[in-house]
Amino acid sequence: MIFVKLENHAYFYELSDIIRMYFGKVEITLLDCLDSGCLQQAEENDVLLISSIQADDDVLACKCEYRTHGLQRHQVSESVEAVDSLYEKEAKRLVKKTMYKLLSEVLNREYPWGILTGIRPVKLVHELLEQGRTEEDIHNQLQTRYLVSEDRIALGIEIAKTERPIIYPIREKSVSIYVGIPFCPSRCYYCSFTSNDIRKCKAQVDPYLNSLEKEIKAVSHYLRNKKAAVQTIYLGGGTPTALGVADLDRVISAINEGFGSTCEEFTCEAGRPDSITAEKLRIIKEGKVTRISINPQTMNDVTLARIGRAHDSRQIVACFEMARHLGFDNINTDLILGLPGEGEKELAHTLSEIRLLNPESVTVHAMAIKRASILNEKAESFPSAKEQNATALMDQAKLQLKEMGLYPYYLYRQKHMVQNLENIGYSKKGFECIYNIQIIEEKQSIVAFGADAVTKAVFNRENRLERQHNIKDIRLYIQNIDRQIDSKLKLLEDMFNAAEQ
Ligand SMILES: C[S@@+](CC[C@H](N)C(=O)[O-])C[C@H]1O[C@@H](n2cnc3c(N)ncnc32)[C@H](O)[C@@H]1O
Ligand code: SF4
Repeated sequence: MIFVKLENHAYFYELSDIIRMYFGKVEITLLDCLDSGCLQQAEENDVLLISSIQADDDVLACKCEYRTHGLQRHQVSESVEAVDSLYEKEAKRLVKKTMYKLLSEVLNREYPWGILTGIRPVKLVHELLEQGRTEEDIHNQLQTRYLVSEDRIALGIEIAKTERPIIYPIREKSVSIYVGIPFCPSRCYYCSFTSNDIRKCKAQVDPYLNSLEKEIKAVSHYLRNKKAAVQTIYLGGGTPTALGVADLDRVISAINEGFGSTCEEFTCEAGRPDSITAEKLRIIKEGKVTRISINPQTMNDVTLARIGRAHDSRQIVACFEMARHLGFDNINTDLILGLPGEGEKELAHTLSEIRLLNPESVTVHAMAIKRASILNEKAESFPSAKEQNATALMDQAKLQLKEMGLYPYYLYRQKHMVQNLENIGYSKKGFECIYNIQIIEEKQSIVAFGADAVTKAVFNRENRLERQHNIKDIRLYIQNIDRQIDSKLKLLEDMFNAAEQ
């Protein structure tokens, strides 16, 4: 057990992020008792971390101690000048930084993103560029204030520079669309996304599509009245191709009727190869979809069976050939690094197979053990990843993808990622997915439809965003569709009003 004692601050949540990076999913107990017996017990049992802060005039001084068995083992302290307006932000940063330095020195381990624990590390680079900082200054800030590694600094700056011409200039009346299909052919063991085994809920498909159509009709009518332009559309999930041919056609037609006229990019996740047929691909192509995803995750058949993918690598190759034959010229593939039983050798095999498929983009995910996944629930029945150094696997992927002419264009992180790493989208020049960039960098509103879909309204002038969550449970989503449409329209109305003022 890890015990934490805070003195003169309450940044327990921020510190827990750093502590979990080093100790994994341990129980972290906040000690609020000052009595020496209580401290004694904590120290004897396990690790006690004490974080304190002192403010004197404009100087913030932070100290962090590591104790075990009643003894102080190590201590780190640092101070900075902070003006009133930045006090809170600087205090949080310093508390995290001293804890990170303490644990990295005691446990002799550092992480590539240093104290940047959020989902969108590249956002900070954009913020600094906005402030007119030079690349050299940004480099120094990331290195000294946030302890980011050299290669992640270079990666962050490279990605921000690629993204900027796509994000800017911001067009106030431009939005992107997300449509979620919460069904899959079966459930993959690592996944915790909104997915329901379609074989077990056939009766829900038709009522679900009725509600989805109603939502799309009402909101597209509103957006047309507002003269909003839809820049990109993303049909994801789940697995849209888990639907039958007629249902898939119905969804794509509803989307095109609602939003098709101004769209620059339309992605459809064809996802699991065992859900793809030539007929479905034809419907997708005729439905003006410009980009599809065919996702191997790995090209090793033993692993595919182990993670419940219910398809093999030959099916992936066959789907690719089918898609190319039908004229798809923008295909993405998703990979996961650090899958059970996989290491350098398995990754090398996957990448050499991917090279033959020659996709326009590859999205490389670092394995995240999600609480709601079968892999987490039955962890003891899976072998662990062979490669303990997941950062080395990421570097190996980056190098080989570069040789294939693919370069990083967007990046994000999730909770519980192995070694606090990241997911990176790589693409050939000119094949960057605009939707992926817009959803991560949050300068454009995303209007989202379907169960568990989250609409994000960006109030650019006020530099803030507001969310509207649709209900995750399919039955409840269907029952409450009118209420969800109303709250989405209300949020959009607030957003357009703010933009027009
Ligand atoms: C929302 S899923 C949809 C993809 C599609 N249904 C499929 O399975 O091919 C998007 C991607 O997230 C990634 N992913 C899902 N769960 C993950 C996990 N636990 N760790 C890392 N990546 C994960 C996979 O690469 C997956 O293709
Ligand atoms: S990875 Fe894709 S197919 Fe597998 S359960 Fe998740 S969403 Fe469904």
